[in-house]
Amino acid sequence: MLSSALLRVLTLLGVVAAFLLPTTSAQASAPLRTHAAAKGKFIGTALATGPLGSETSYRTIAGTEFNQITAENAMKWESTEPSQGQFTFSGADQIVNFATQNNQQVHGHTLVWHQQTPGWVQGLGATAMRSAMQNHIAQVVGHYADNPAVVSWDVVNEVFDENGGWRSSFWYNTLGQSFVADAFRAARAADPDARLCINDYNVEGINAKSTAMYNLVSSLRQQGVPVDCVGFQSHLAIQYGFPSDMQQNMQRFAALGVQVRVTELDVRIQTPRDSSKDTTQATYYRNVVNACLAVTACAGVTIWGFTDKHSWVPDTFPNEGFALPYDANYQQKPAYTAVHDALAGGTSGDTTAPTTPGTPTVGTVTSNSAALTWSASTDTGGSGLAGYNVYREQGATDALLGQSSTASITLTGLSPSTQYQVYVRARDGAGNLSGNSALATFTTQAGPGGGGGCTATGTVQTQWSGGYVIQPVTVTNTGTSAISGWTVTFTLPAGHTLSGSWNATLTVSGQTVTAKNANYNGNLAPNAGTSFGFQVSRPSGNTQTPSTYTCA
Ligand code: XIL
Repeated sequence: MLSSALLRVLTLLGVVAAFLLPTTSAQASAPLRTHAAAKGKFIGTALATGPLGSETSYRTIAGTEFNQITAENAMKWESTEPSQGQFTFSGADQIVNFATQNNQQVHGHTLVWHQQTPGWVQGLGATAMRSAMQNHIAQVVGHYADNPAVVSWDVVNEVFDENGGWRSSFWYNTLGQSFVADAFRAARAADPDARLCINDYNVEGINAKSTAMYNLVSSLRQQGVPVDCVGFQSHLAIQYGFPSDMQQNMQRFAALGVQVRVTELDVRIQTPRDSSKDTTQATYYRNVVNACLAVTACAGVTIWGFTDKHSWVPDTFPNEGFALPYDANYQQKPAYTAVHDALAGGTSGDTTAPTTPGTPTVGTVTSNSAALTWSASTDTGGSGLAGYNVYREQGATDALLGQSSTASITLTGLSPSTQYQVYVRARDGAGNLSGNSALATFTTQAGPGGGGGCTATGTVQTQWSGGYVIQPVTVTNTGTSAISGWTVTFTLPAGHTLSGSWNATLTVSGQTVTAKNANYNGNLAPNAGTSFGFQVSRPSGNTQTPSTYTCA
């Protein structure tokens, strides 16, 4: 029992603490859904039935912070029709009822997918499989057609491979690509009011896979197939870099007339977790929310869970985790603040600049590029560290040479045989800039052929255990006269095979790959650049990628 003296002290402390707290308006500290609604967007989370039934904290946060819900597993085929014609909606209804009680909209996930679909479906012949698919859609969509909470569906999920070809699933192998149009038509028939989406991963940026998706959606809509919406799963990882053309990519889909949405956002990190990874992760979350806010056709962002206590990441990606905005004890992480502040419309009130970064250390210097690293800044103003600007010191107006979200950069497009003095400034989410770091000096090397020639640098855009995408390979004319064609060569590590390419013509001899410009990107003025990309399959578990690119 507390003594009355102790109670008095605690009360006093409470009063003092309340007095010392910065005055934030109720709105600034409001839950995510309040800010999202004010912007006309949803902010959602995937929910699992287990913790929804058993954990108060899980229910409280899910109900308070989000205005949109996706069932993480409960609406999948294995849950709703485990044996043919036997429909069970107990888990799905549990989630829909929770959403109804909390005034949340539900996105149905997912009707036709190659995973979590029972074996009985996979073994059917073509005619029986098509009618099983149509019946499944009719029953599951029909079950919720009159439920005002359920407003949209992922009709088909993950139909492409990483190269932009059709995924060799039992659906495609048995029915051909027509299953997609048939699925959408069946869903429209079952609920004419529901918004019908196609959903996939690794389609956030502009690449071979997202372009295949774009072409499919365009052609389906031209044929009158009811595709209303495209979902970008957005299972991101900080070690693979942020898809910086995400907004541009969503915009090109929007131009087809479809709604777009971020459907399964998480940002995993490699263990162990540390505060710098948390900060980078927060930047990714902020970038995704900002991309959606910037695109009118983007309906909102669904995060794939919300607490690291219940996330698919550690079970799926060895040695990765911590992908969500709350930690395993339901404490908010920097990612939460980033989502909150982005939805709240920025960071009004933050006028505190980040600390000044350390002096840049110069790494590899080529004729047209230079690698720099520096010690990181911190930001205490509330909006969080957003990244760094690197400038060239040149008197009155210093040129911005590059931007990075991490404390390092490889500057490209530099002039050969030229001395550069550069410095770094940190940026926060409100746009405040730090002071200038001390200068670093380097001199680029002589270009190949003494003034003629070109260089090429490749970036790993994404990788998985069995392959990777190099995008972009940037080709720069480092010479002093225009060129009308270029050839880039590189070596694939043993066992790696080329599986696709774009914006160049690639030929393979042994492990040597020769990439020649396409007919539209061979002409490069001095200092001008272009790019191409390619995809490679590699033995599972192998982590190598090509190391050097030679341009001639
Ligand atoms: C995942 C769930 O999070 C896991 O619990 C389950 O074991 C496997 O599926 N793409 C999708 C989601 O469309 O349905 C997947 O969800 C994650 C990848």
